[in-house]
Amino acid sequence: MAILIKKPNAIKASEITPEPVYLDRRRFMQQSLATGFLLAADAMLPAWAKRWPELSKSVFNTGDEVNSFEDITHYNNFYEFGTGKKDPQKNAGSFNPRPWSIAVEGECDKPGVFNLEDFIKPYALEERIYRLRCVEGWSMVIPWVGFSLADMLKTFAPNSKAKYVEFTTLLDKSRMPGQKRRVLRWPYVEGLRIDEAMNPLPIMAVGLYGDTLPNQNGAPIRLVVPWKYGFKSIKSIVKIRFTETQPRTTWNLSAPKEYGFYSNVNPIVDHPRWSQKKERVIGLPFWAPKRDTELYNGYGEQVAHLYQGMDLRKNF
Ligand code: MTE
Repeated sequence: MAILIKKPNAIKASEITPEPVYLDRRRFMQQSLATGFLLAADAMLPAWAKRWPELSKSVFNTGDEVNSFEDITHYNNFYEFGTGKKDPQKNAGSFNPRPWSIAVEGECDKPGVFNLEDFIKPYALEERIYRLRCVEGWSMVIPWVGFSLADMLKTFAPNSKAKYVEFTTLLDKSRMPGQKRRVLRWPYVEGLRIDEAMNPLPIMAVGLYGDTLPNQNGAPIRLVVPWKYGFKSIKSIVKIRFTETQPRTTWNLSAPKEYGFYSNVNPIVDHPRWSQKKERVIGLPFWAPKRDTELYNGYGEQVAHLYQGMDLRKNF
């Protein structure tokens, strides 16, 4: 990745204008022009186009081309709605992520149970354009809407025993039909070491492309940890727990030789079944050359210090 972090003024307009909003706005402007209502056009934009009016632009953006809204919402891993890439889009449509509450527990001084709106209210929402690298060997670039995980965790005053943070997805077979099959141990659980979680890069995402999070991408709130394989970025979170011991995570429990706790993107540590040297960029034609995978997914400058002195082959 040539440019890791861009200055806000270096972000292209095409990167920060939500694709569906942009297309809709252009269509609307054309129609308005034709009918002579141009002055009223902006005021008459549909309400959803202004869902996050206060969005600030982050300095943490890759310089890469973003994937289309179509790619991001039709090629998903969300086993709670099926194991195929198109299943989440097909099966999550009727999932209603409201009302939603989040419990914060464990080694902290200010635990509690919060409804989603109260939970996210204190934090400044930003657009963060991150590459998501899946352990299966593909990647895409997503314009998330979210807020700093570190800022959020500090609100709950973790104590000196808080060495890790554990995240849990909703468990509800009636709303997440994929949980009727025992393909994984439900609910889905993920975790980070506390210093990883306190790094400025991870976010709690509540939207993408300027709008709220589509169900298939983990509505209403999910984690995004850009230097780790995609499975660490757990979706539809209902519980956050500070722990003294390393959390037992879903993929590690399901296949410990294949999925470690750390799961940092690393081209020289192969998955037993797949090389990690290259990655297929979703959205490019099938004959396009694959991209070289970068250590820590290109975010080494921000995170390499977290793993100094650690054997990355053992701690995969
Ligand atoms: N979270 C839950 N609860 N269930 C899942 O199956 N899949 C993970 C991760 N988070 C998953 C999950 C995997 S393997 C990947 S690659 C990313 O979500 C995919 O995120 P996306 O569909 O928004 O691109």
